[in-house]
Amino acid sequence: MDTYRTVLFLHFVALFIGFGAAAILGLSLFRLRAAQTGADAMPWGVLAGNVEKAFPVAILGLFLTGAYMTSDVWTWSTGWIDVAIVSLVVIAAQGVLVAGRRAKELEHALEANGPGPLSERARQLTCDRALWIVSFANPGIVLGVVWVMTQKPGTAEAIVAVVVGYIVGALAALQFAKVPVGEVEVVAASS
Ligand code: HEM
Repeated sequence: MDTYRTVLFLHFVALFIGFGAAAILGLSLFRLRAAQTGADAMPWGVLAGNVEKAFPVAILGLFLTGAYMTSDVWTWSTGWIDVAIVSLVVIAAQGVLVAGRRAKELEHALEANGPGPLSERARQLTCDRALWIVSFANPGIVLGVVWVMTQKPGTAEAIVAVVVGYIVGALAALQFAKVPVGEVEVVAASS
């Protein structure tokens, strides 16, 4: 058995853990945004809170397995590897400092709301722009790094790939980080 290839396999496992968690988080965000009451929203809030615990495992897994392969065959001054390391730091920082904080605020708002109709504050937080942008931009960055890892381009091209991934993810998030259209019509009709 080739150790390098086994570690590469584990690199993929860490990637799948991250993507799986991001997909469940995305689904939870859509369900939270559609919720009318605290009772509707709570299970999705709890699921999102639980699934986010997978991200440190994925990030650490990608870094440690990547570090092994880098030391074994590549060098730490390889451009596309350095871009991947910086991308992982950006993903972790955005996840903890932006999305994590906003998600905590939402969690508190849902607890204060109870099972009844959602308060204006809780509704706003389910559509929080920063939370949605990070939740979509981080997978966008990861796709950019997958491109980088498979193509192994020069540093400039690697940076462009990651930035494009970020922008595409953020633009997609902006389409969804608002109260659903049907809801706007209902609110407008009742006012
Ligand atoms: C978001 C983070 C990352 C993602 C999505 C990612 C993804 C991937 C993928 C898909 C491959 C397979 C490429 C192929 O076989 O053609 C790969 C390989 C590799 N990755 Fe990563 N990776 C990430 C982070 C890192 C980091 C931080 C390092 C270094 C510390 C690293 C080092 C490597 C190395 C050395 C290979 C082996 C390349 C080869 O032998 O072809 N990766 N990565």
